[in-house]
Amino acid sequence: MTYRQAKWGEPIIFELSKESKQSFIIDDMFKEYANEALSKIPEDLRRKSALKIPNLSEVEVVRHFTRLTQMAYGVDVGPVPLGSCTMKYNPKVSEELANDQRVTELHPYQDEETAQGILEIMYLMQRWLAEITGTDECSLQPPAGASGEFTGALIIKKYHIDHGMHYKNEMIVPDAAHGSNPASSAMAGFKVVKIPTDSDGETDINALKAALSERTAGLMLTNPNTLGIFESKILDIADAIHERKAFLYYDGANLNGIIGVVRPGDMGFDIIHLNLHKTFAAPHGGGGPGAGVVCVKKELKEYLPTPIVDYDGRKYFFRYDLSKTIGRVSWFYGNITPIVKSFVYLASLGPAIREVAEISVLNTNYLLKKLANLKGISLIYGEGRWRKHEFVVSFDKLRKETGVNAEDVAKSLLDRGIHAPTIYFPLIVPEAHMIEVTETETLENLDLIADAYKEIVEKAYVNPEELKKAPKNTSVGRLDAIVANHPNTLAPTYKHVLARK
Ligand SMILES: Cc1ncc(COP(=O)(O)O)c(C=O)c1O
Repeated sequence: MTYRQAKWGEPIIFELSKESKQSFIIDDMFKEYANEALSKIPEDLRRKSALKIPNLSEVEVVRHFTRLTQMAYGVDVGPVPLGSCTMKYNPKVSEELANDQRVTELHPYQDEETAQGILEIMYLMQRWLAEITGTDECSLQPPAGASGEFTGALIIKKYHIDHGMHYKNEMIVPDAAHGSNPASSAMAGFKVVKIPTDSDGETDINALKAALSERTAGLMLTNPNTLGIFESKILDIADAIHERKAFLYYDGANLNGIIGVVRPGDMGFDIIHLNLHKTFAAPHGGGGPGAGVVCVKKELKEYLPTPIVDYDGRKYFFRYDLSKTIGRVSWFYGNITPIVKSFVYLASLGPAIREVAEISVLNTNYLLKKLANLKGISLIYGEGRWRKHEFVVSFDKLRKETGVNAEDVAKSLLDRGIHAPTIYFPLIVPEAHMIEVTETETLENLDLIADAYKEIVEKAYVNPEELKKAPKNTSVGRLDAIVANHPNTLAPTYKHVLARK
């Protein structure tokens, strides 16, 4: 067999198996040890038939799995400039410590006295995240950003009901918002009121004021917003919301652009969720799980999901006695590994966390400057304004002039070894590419991305057909986007595997 690059349709490991092969020869000493261990397992709990595992030599096993890893692209391979996702490099020291036995062998039912180390980490995370966000208390329970939003919406709802304001049943959400904002508001029972973005790329404050009424329960906002633009009228927005006895909710998915520089709490936000799996360097997108920590101002502390961790000066302990708690939003204490990874990240950066924001903003604007003048690219919103953590460009002009659309450009980036950015979001920008390079990409990588875009748009004007066929250098070619989004998406994959049995 000659060496080949991994392609879709690789044989599964059982198909490579042959009776005559094996990886290890089990010597007599091991057998003796294994038999002794076996004798301690009650007869009725022992396996009745031989374990069905494939027979291969060790080198075949290693090559098989190494080939499979080559089919995947991740941030350890190259840049992943997915806007709104903050796919930064995840330091290996965090992985190392989160995989320490003292973390992995903890059990959620373990006595608190024997888990003081992890409780201290959780307590410190609550304190540090409250400090970073300008709030008073945090719950580490929600397992994702969207779950944090849902938690926040439930807190808003319960607060209003407790204060006799049952009629507050509307959540205002800008049209540039991530889809999870209206979805989580609706799940919590709110009617979603959509407001537009102005030509500067900010929330239209006049439309916001017109939408406010006694029914307004809150406004969900991310700042910087999904266009990467800082909402400069945020203090006026906060005043307008608070005058209506409503709450300002901060979708913290975009905190990377301002962390350590300004605090959402100081801008007037009352409830905040943070995506530890974005801003705080815990892996996501296949590397999860996530953590959507929720932090609140004093007034809302008693509403947080329980348990939270407290400290009495001698020991750390779980508190379940918050008087108005909305209850649990996930099992046990939340996803612990992203919390440990983010703890290591924060502990290693300390006050230098501010540089995360500074460099991510510098990288964003450097790349934006290089792309903004390319033929076929336009900005639609916020012409001439600085961006924070990300920017959005439109290929609408390119599509009209050459037939090459945002998807074709994205697929052509894959052929040049660069992961595509987020495309067709936010919905208010036609043929959108939402690009976020984070602080962890080097100047050389930013230039590589810019050069790839330049080459692609130039090619669009001379050979658009070639770009329509991209990608051709990846382990799978262009997928049918309609089929890929159909509820039966997985059927062909499973059929393919099942057909082999
Ligand atoms: C702006 C914004 N808000 C909320 C979310 C939801 O976060 P999660 O994917 O952790 O549920 C995302 C996710 O990409 C996002 O970009």
